[in-house]
Amino acid sequence: MPRVNKICCIGAGYVGGPTCAVIALKCPHIRVTIVDLNQARIDAWNSPDFHLPIYEPGLEDVVRKARGRNLFFSTDVDKGIQEADLIFVSVNTPTKKSGVGAGSAADLNYVELATRRIAAIATSSKIVVEKSTVPCRTAESMRIILEANSKPNTRFDILSNPEFLAEGTAIKDLFAPDRVLIGSLQTSEGKEACQALCEVYRNWVPNDKILTVGLWSSELSKLAANAMLAQRISSINALSAICEATGANIDEVAHSIGQDSRIGSKFLRASVGFGGSCFQKDILNLVYLSESLNLKEVAEYWKQVVTMNEYQKRRFSKRVVDTLFNTITGKRIAVLGFAFKADTGDTRESAAITLIRDFQEERALVNIYDPQVEHSQIWSDLSEASPSMSLETIQRQVSICSSALEACRNAEAVVIATEWAEFKTIDWQSVYAGMNKPAFVFDGRLLVNVEELRAIGFKVAVIGRGERL
Ligand code: NAD
Ligand code: UDX
Repeated sequence: MPRVNKICCIGAGYVGGPTCAVIALKCPHIRVTIVDLNQARIDAWNSPDFHLPIYEPGLEDVVRKARGRNLFFSTDVDKGIQEADLIFVSVNTPTKKSGVGAGSAADLNYVELATRRIAAIATSSKIVVEKSTVPCRTAESMRIILEANSKPNTRFDILSNPEFLAEGTAIKDLFAPDRVLIGSLQTSEGKEACQALCEVYRNWVPNDKILTVGLWSSELSKLAANAMLAQRISSINALSAICEATGANIDEVAHSIGQDSRIGSKFLRASVGFGGSCFQKDILNLVYLSESLNLKEVAEYWKQVVTMNEYQKRRFSKRVVDTLFNTITGKRIAVLGFAFKADTGDTRESAAITLIRDFQEERALVNIYDPQVEHSQIWSDLSEASPSMSLETIQRQVSICSSALEACRNAEAVVIATEWAEFKTIDWQSVYAGMNKPAFVFDGRLLVNVEELRAIGFKVAVIGRGERL
């Protein structure tokens, strides 16, 4: 069995960075080099004061321990490829914006470019590991490209090793994964390559958590896991609409159904809608795959998960407008949280972006506060969401604040879009004193103590609760 001494990871993003930093930490005998074409990103990974390009609890500690020892970040992609025995391909696979499958198929251009680079550069045999989330059978295309371009005496073995970490808990998830999934061809060479990667993970992951399966099952399992997780959220959010219309309470419903051990209590938190770079993209990917396989009903089934999520976001912003006497024109709305979930600075597909766009269209004034998201990122997301508006026009309507208290000053309503822990300890008495009356709170994250806020004088509307404000 080939032993892995040197790993290269192509893509220093949210997955490649933390995943391979943890591999380096747990495997001091392996030299790990993470490469990326993006100079600014690599510079940030190498920054002397550890101002890393992504915010992730525990990540800085891992990088501090391993960087310069056996963990390196570089833009020299070719050198990284040349030296490695095993290469992770952890590049982005966004939804295609144009061409065939636009709006649902995965854009595999970055995967293909990385694969072609490996083929062009490698002069020794490599294990190439698909870490990016890709449609079923992408490994086959990678294998064809690699074999068609390989040099004499150079073998490529392809593995699929999808990543299941969630942002905000990435380091915890990587230290103690529910499972590590490795897919390989069921040939003797494929199985050997698979064992070589298993050996890497065995340095800290118990053997019974390392699952080895066929390549296609591995690729499909990743899409399936995300689709099923997102489907739970859309299911609970669909029920939250019924709760609001009937007076049932979604927290009580979620708790009651979650006690059934077949259902389980996790991932049943009603919200303003799921965000993040994965759920929508991967479901649409599954929808496209199903359509390409002529499985129309299957495609429609999964598409509904995304449709329900869009409905949830729209329903929430409509509730704000309806409650504020059917107009928010010229009214100040404080939006607390811009990241797609707590403990990350990532804003990709964040529900907050959609809500703020809706408020802008109603000509409201919006104050935003988020403890982690860079201001430049907020402006870029809002510009992308409203392409017909200039940045100057957006900035006349929207302000970014440096605290929750500042954001809420002179506002008519507070909207909680992200479940940051610090929002649980807001001094609501002071917030109330600084707001116009009646003062409204719209909780899209089941975060506030409703009774306490009502006692102060707030009118409180919570997702999945339909009682009088
Ligand atoms: P990302 O955009 O943060 O990082 C991808 C990086 O790859 C970028 O820095 C980009 O510059 C680099 N890159 C692209 N093409 C390259 C090339 N040819 N050579 C060198 N570098 C190149 O993306 P991410 O969030 O890390 O996601 C990566 C993959 O992992 C995606 O397929 C995603 O679906 C999957 N995934 C993401 C998460 C998550 O939580 N973000 C979780 C599981 C799986
Ligand atoms: C997800 C998967 O969980 C992870 O396994 C995969 O590798 C990548 O995609 P991520 O998107 O980082 O991870 O975060 P996750 O915790 O799954 O949350 C996704 C979205 O769903 C967030 O907007 C979150 O707020 C929302 N969510 C989550 C809910 O609205 N309710 C819940 O009960 C759980």
